[in-house]
Amino acid sequence: MKIAVYGATGYQAGLVLAELVRRGAPVVLVGRDGERLARTAARLAAVPAAAGPAARPGGPSDAPGPSEDGGIEVRVADAADHAALTAAFDGCAAVINCAGPFTVSGGTVADAAVSAGCHYVDTSGEQLHIKRVFDTLGARAERAGVGVVPAATDGCVPVDLLARLLAERLAEPVEEIFSVHRITGGGTPSRGSLRSALASLKVIGSGGLAYRDGDWRSGAPARRTSVRLPGDAAPVPVVRFPLPEVVTIPRHVNVRCVEGLAEATLTARLSTPLPPETIDALPAGPAEEDRRAQRFTYVVEAAGVTGRMLRGVIRGRDTYGTTAVIAVEAARRLVADPPGPGVLVPAQAFDPADFLASLVPHGVDWTIGPADG
Ligand SMILES: NC(=O)c1ccc[n+]([C@@H]2O[C@H](COP(=O)([O-])OP(=O)(O)OC[C@H]3O[C@@H](n4cnc5c(N)ncnc54)[C@H](OP(=O)(O)O)[C@@H]3O)[C@@H](O)[C@H]2O)c1
Repeated sequence: MKIAVYGATGYQAGLVLAELVRRGAPVVLVGRDGERLARTAARLAAVPAAAGPAARPGGPSDAPGPSEDGGIEVRVADAADHAALTAAFDGCAAVINCAGPFTVSGGTVADAAVSAGCHYVDTSGEQLHIKRVFDTLGARAERAGVGVVPAATDGCVPVDLLARLLAERLAEPVEEIFSVHRITGGGTPSRGSLRSALASLKVIGSGGLAYRDGDWRSGAPARRTSVRLPGDAAPVPVVRFPLPEVVTIPRHVNVRCVEGLAEATLTARLSTPLPPETIDALPAGPAEEDRRAQRFTYVVEAAGVTGRMLRGVIRGRDTYGTTAVIAVEAARRLVADPPGPGVLVPAQAFDPADFLASLVPHGVDWTIGPADG
């Protein structure tokens, strides 16, 4: 059961590949640069396969199965070459696409994965790419009998799943859901994250899409300007932010309004991005000790039509390491226990409580309680 990783030479892909190898999955490294791919494959071959519960969430039965040939294969395909991509994915059960910015190349890679009959996940945080995959690929994925889950990341998957649990617990039509992301520490983001932010600069500046009364709109005024986050004595200023879950949540929760928020200081920082040549000169991504020191808190709040409000909180560390675990776990579940085919949000593809439980050994915990009001 081979898993292809596209953009295999990148920083996030390195963590995804290490996670796959730790679980004993045969991997196919795919990208546009054969020499870089060969160097990545050589480094990966030196990673020992582990059998401990930390490497295999949920225990050994959770692993995709041992590699028959210790298999690490390399295949070269440009993101603009549909035939080459389809050939590169041939014989793979799933594709994990880590090549950002996704608004540039993500659509063609997802399309080719479907043509090759592979399940597909990606590590995109780019709202417009995610929306485009839902808008364009659904019918083809259904015909091909594969599951496509964009945004299999630390941010989107737990928030989308927790939104489902909140809605179930409210047990009434939902008036509003909002989420706020706070990330502290972690050193300088990866070059890929910075390039993706640069590619989405206008979208970030505008706040991206919000969901109102059955449709997604840009330019909608924020319904909130401050939120008290866990551990804070007072509310902090927030602004609308193009979070992926704004696209995913309305696809499985009967809700009137959804918006993504971020602390105003984050948007201000991202609005003055580093120039491309400065990004090129940075390290590929944060050092391991910085990743381990990083903490994230994602707050999801849901208000029912009667005014009852619940707050879910997800806490974890190491956004890149957590994304690697989530992307691999998502691909594994699509292959081992396929949901109905199509482009799916996390809560349609996976059992919410069960998937969240699989993240606990990786330092992710979540709570549901009353909201502040
Ligand atoms: N929570 C989140 O939203 C979240 C979390 C983690 C990661 N991410 C996203 O994951 C992505 C990857 O990040 P990263 O740090 O791994 O980036 P990176 O180190 O720059 O790696 C990017 C990879 O994609 C390939 N690539 C880029 N553009 C391509 C194109 N047009 N055609 C073919 N290949 C292309 C690169 O190939 P070459 O080596 O040939 O250049 C490289 O292998 C980013 O978009 C980041 O935002 C999101």
